[in-house]
Order: sequence, then structure tokens, then C-alpha cells
Amino acid sequence: MKGGIQKVGVAGCGLMGSGIAEISAKAGMDVVVREIDASAVEAGRGRIESSLARAVKKEKITAEERDTILSKIRFVTAVEELADRDIVIEAIIEDLEIKNELFGKLDDLCGPETIFATNTSSLTVTDMAAAVDRSDRVVGLHFFNPVPVMKLVEVVRTIATSDEAFERTFEFARALGKEPITAKDNSGFVVNLLLVPYMLDAIRQLERGVASVEDIDAGMKLGCGHPMGPFTLCDFVGNDTTYRIAEIMYDEYREERYAPPPLLKRMVAMGRYGRKTGIGFYDYSGDQPVPVAV
Ligand code: 3HC
Repeated sequence: MKGGIQKVGVAGCGLMGSGIAEISAKAGMDVVVREIDASAVEAGRGRIESSLARAVKKEKITAEERDTILSKIRFVTAVEELADRDIVIEAIIEDLEIKNELFGKLDDLCGPETIFATNTSSLTVTDMAAAVDRSDRVVGLHFFNPVPVMKLVEVVRTIATSDEAFERTFEFARALGKEPITAKDNSGFVVNLLLVPYMLDAIRQLERGVASVEDIDAGMKLGCGHPMGPFTLCDFVGNDTTYRIAEIMYDEYREERYAPPPLLKRMVAMGRYGRKTGIGFYDYSGDQPVPVAV
């Protein structure tokens, strides 16, 4: 394969997949994004459209540029449509079996040169590379939420990743306008390895009654200059997501710092996922978020 990556496939058009598809199209690439059914496609398209509408409103792009970006994205439900891509980035559910089922199908469909990238936040890339015939062309490509805003991408290589596949992916991340860093294939890579225990510790502080949700958030915002306090961040990332990541990291390292605190488990059981369900550590039903008693 010569030249840079031009034909991008994105599997999954949720929060992360829609952002990845949007920035790829914005960088001038030809994008095919696959979701499992028509309603998931419509939800994904809606996410991209509202993100672009926001950019037009803020005068970051013109209405014409928005239309050009949208015209570069083809929404599909058939996995076969990803066959001719230079790279396929999966951003589906954080479940190894489901990811490997998808990669297995893609392994049969795609040409031998296609790079398989995973946006996993906590699983190990090696567990996906080991399940396909092209282990040398499997990489991690971990984006951050909101994808159009956050500059970082972690590019992850396993012991089997070829230099060529790694370098092409690294260049691809740069072509998307991101600032990539290289990470070893360990659960949590660089950022989540530090960030997840931090969020879990904030929940433990709350369990111990150290301070209120608002005060812990204000402490980290005002004292450390973080853009969001840990509970606002938990609600932003999704408590269900953080819980799942913590379970995977705890399973990997068997260290207490990664163990999900009971309160997080209770929040998830009650559907208090955060912004996406309208309630988490804060209630988002009014004009301003209001802390919820826990
Ligand atoms: N899409 C596109 N642009 C967006 C956006 C979105 N969803 N959300 C915000 N923006 C843009 C706004 O347009 C604005 O741009 P401008 O300054 O050029 O006008 C800028 O971002 C700031 O937005 P706002 O003024 O609306 O709001 P804030 O100043 O509060 O910023 C934030 C919002 C960028 C989300 C900021 O609060 C932030 O950086 N928070 C921390 C986010 C973070 O830590 N993300 C990582 C989570 S961990 C992760 O993703 C890993 C995973 O594996 C769990």
C-alpha cells in the first residue's frame, strides 16, 4: 500500500465512532461508517449533524464546508461495505467477544493490507490481534471525548505490530490534526491508567464523606485547573463506561486502586449513567446541573 491512509472505515457510530467519522471526513478522507441497523445509523448521523451544526454556529466552518464533510461520509449497515478500506477503526461496545467477532468477519472480507484499529479504552489490543490472521496489522487508536476537541490520540502497538502498520497509523492520527503519543499495550494505556483510579478515588472520597460532590469538583477545578471536576467528568464519560473500564482494569491488574467502588455499582444499577441518561452525580433536567443526594 502506497501513500497515506485515505479510505477510512469506522465500525460503530456512537459517541466515539461519530466523532472519529466526523474528524476523518473533516480531514478530507473518504469515510464509511457502519452501524448495526437503520435506527442506529440515524442516531449516529444525528450526532455528526449536531456536532457540525455547533461548529457552523461557532463559525469554525461554513455551511458549505459542513455539506462537503457530510458528503464524504457514507452510512451503512452491511459489514461488507468496509471491505475496501485502508483502515477500519472499531468503536463498538467494550466487549472482547463482540469486538473479536467483528474483527473475525473483517479479516475474511478486507484485503491483506487493511489496518485494524481499536478504540478500546481498557481491553488489551493483543487480545484482538491474537484472534485474527493479520496480527501484524492490528493497532490501538484511542481517542478522547469529545473527539473533535481533544487533541490527544494514543497509538498503541503490540509485540506483533509491524513498524510499517504502526507508522502509517501514527501518520494517520497526525493527518487527522491530532497529537499522537505512543503507548505500550497495557490495559488503560497511558491516560486511563492514571485517570480511572483518580475518578474512582473521588467516588471513594464521597463514600467516606470527605466532602460533597460540588466541593470535590470545585476543589479539583479551582485547585488544579482541571476543566471539569471528577464527578462532572464521571457523568461526562458515563458511569456505566467507567464501571466497565474499572472492572476490566481490575481484572487485568488485581490491584485495589482499579476496583469499582460500591457506590459506582449502585449508580449503574439505578441507570444513573450521567449526561446520557439525564442523571448521574448531577441531575441534568434543568438549566444547570444540580448535585443529586447519594
Ligand atoms: N463537539 C465539538 N466541539 C465541542 C464539543 C463537542 N461535543 N464540546 C465542546 N466543544 C467545543 C466548543 O465548541 C468550544 O470551542 P471554542 O472554545 O473554540 O468555542 C470548546 O469545545 C469549549 O466548549 P464549551 O465552551 O462549550 O465548554 P467548556 O469550556 O466547558 O469545554 C470540554 C467543554 C471541552 C468538554 C471541557 O470541559 C473539557 O476539556 N473537559 C474535559 C474532557 C475530558 O477530560 N475528556 C477526556 C475524557 S476520558 C476519555 O475520553 C477516555 C475514555 O477512554 C474514557
